[in-house]
Amino acid sequence: MKIGNIDIKNSILLAPMAGVTDLPFRIICKDMGADLVYTEFVSSNGIIRENKKTLDLIEFIDEERPIGVQIFGETPEAVGLSAKMIEERFSPDIIDINYGCPVPKVTKKGAGSAALKDLNLMRDITSAVVEKVKDTPVTVKMRSGWCSDSEVFVKAGQILEEVGVSAITLHPRTTSQRFEGSADWNSIKVLKENVNIPVIGNGDVKTIDDYIKILKQTKCDAVMIGRAALGNPWIFRDINNYNKGNAKKETKISDILTICIKHYNLLKENKEERICVNLTKKHFSWYLKGFKNASYWRKKILFSKDISQIEETINIMEKELV
Ligand SMILES: Cc1cc2nc3c(=O)[nH]c(=O)nc-3n(C[C@H](O)[C@H](O)[C@H](O)COP(=O)(O)O)c2cc1C
Repeated sequence: MKIGNIDIKNSILLAPMAGVTDLPFRIICKDMGADLVYTEFVSSNGIIRENKKTLDLIEFIDEERPIGVQIFGETPEAVGLSAKMIEERFSPDIIDINYGCPVPKVTKKGAGSAALKDLNLMRDITSAVVEKVKDTPVTVKMRSGWCSDSEVFVKAGQILEEVGVSAITLHPRTTSQRFEGSADWNSIKVLKENVNIPVIGNGDVKTIDDYIKILKQTKCDAVMIGRAALGNPWIFRDINNYNKGNAKKETKISDILTICIKHYNLLKENKEERICVNLTKKHFSWYLKGFKNASYWRKKILFSKDISQIEETINIMEKELV
């Protein structure tokens, strides 16, 4: 798949996830074979105000390329200007606009998936971004509509193509569905039939079988994986191995421990202590599952008060688990 003039090798993408797809987790997934990774969505207003926390969310290193920075906002002026600022300051490979976030705090101001209720606003925001960022491909990630009787993804897709968007990711649930029910992959197929730019299929891809099915059913150009990568970045390795015709590799306890240690070290290098501790607890509670006594180790990490306690537990795990 090509997005603008960027070659995306095998077309397995890591979904943007707020509070999750920071630099350490993106590097872990990239090393496992994710071809394109994204930052979590960042606020256009925060970028314009040069809010440090917002700008920190965008920091990435060259090893992560190709990388997309995802933005959200409610006015063409703000989203356009923030995109230009991101291009000048960070030079990401892709700028992605979020038209999928269902959270009321975001949609009540008209940002995120609220644009699905006003396709003129979606057009204006998207055109503003495309016009402001001359050298970076602009992509969009959206849901299928606001609610089940207003699924607008085909019309939206055609507008987005017309204004110069280079690819569209569709998470085929409506805003009112949030994460309920299942993603309607047929909508991805319909979108693919109605636009001439790459379509990235997303939603409920949890296994290699799901990956095979979504590609076959929708003919999408690439597949984006979110929740299935939490505690399981090996999903990217497994799909790549499948594509190469290699046998599926078993994920051993030693593999889990190696990734835990790598992830912890990346967090320690990149975050202040309190955040490092919290994120270690979050990710380790996903990693430490599915083996004997996993809940014992999970609890030990969860009750750690500081990095020294976390490191002590990691040291014992290294001795006792491998
Ligand atoms: C914790 C979490 C945070 C998310 N944050 C974002 C986000 O910042 N931007 C976005 O476009 N989608 C976000 N999403 C949606 C995912 O990118 C994806 O579309 C959705 O989870 C469906 O894919 P999946 O079934 O593979 O998880 C988030 C999802 C989760 C679970």
